[in-house]
Amino acid sequence: MSHDHYVAIDRYLDDRFAPEDAVLQAAVARSAAAGLPAIQVSPGQGKLLYTLARMVGARRILEIGTLGGYSTIWLARALPADGRLISLEYSAQHADVARENLAAAGLADMVDVRVGAAAASLKALIAEQSPAFDLIFLDADKASYPEYLQLVLDLVRPGALIVADNITRGGRLLQEPPEPDSIGMRRFLDDLAAEPRLTSAAFQTVGLKGHDGMAIAVVTT
Ligand code: SAH
Ligand code: DHB
Ligand code: MG
Repeated sequence: MSHDHYVAIDRYLDDRFAPEDAVLQAAVARSAAAGLPAIQVSPGQGKLLYTLARMVGARRILEIGTLGGYSTIWLARALPADGRLISLEYSAQHADVARENLAAAGLADMVDVRVGAAAASLKALIAEQSPAFDLIFLDADKASYPEYLQLVLDLVRPGALIVADNITRGGRLLQEPPEPDSIGMRRFLDDLAAEPRLTSAAFQTVGLKGHDGMAIAVVTT
């Protein structure tokens, strides 16, 4: 099967399960106009995040890697009116675009975009004894996923989900010699599989974003 075929199937599925409304389309357009890379989750992946958040009745969501807030909008829409989403982003420029997109989506009051290196922001959340999160989406620099995993384990409740994007982006998981992203991702997957507090699954994906994959874990204790 060709890449075009995978893309056509994604469009068929997204037409049915993940149609983008004007707000999501505008967020993509505003992000592109601001020069952000078009590496946000696909519509179907956004709907997966939304559905997972609904499955666990999420009231508090933590995202690591905001970009222009596209995945943030999908996730925040799954929250109840008094729900809260905190999204961590290194780039002040990305965060500004995300805040504009979230305001246009009517989600500004529900979402807090925190600028800085995610590891430092996670340590600050732990230090301020943040209430536990129900879903955590890892989607920032891949080399740091192992560190993010250890930190977020202090920020979850039993039953919470941890979702990780891009586990084999562009086939890089098995790349030889490995670059920092592949080394980080292999270590992350080893740690995830071995972590006694989690039950986890990891899978490949193909479609609008090429060949990639995600991992999903549930906190058991
Ligand atoms: N979740 C977004 C895509 C995120 S792309 C979506 O699907 O719509 C990855 C983002 O992580 C980029 O915006 C990048 O600036 C950010 N990032 C990279 N390194 C980071 C770090 N150390 N801390 C926080 N964010 C980081
Ligand atoms: C890329 C894709 C992503 O989903 C991401 O989080 C970072 C980078 C990419 O294709 O380059
Ligand atoms: Mg990603």
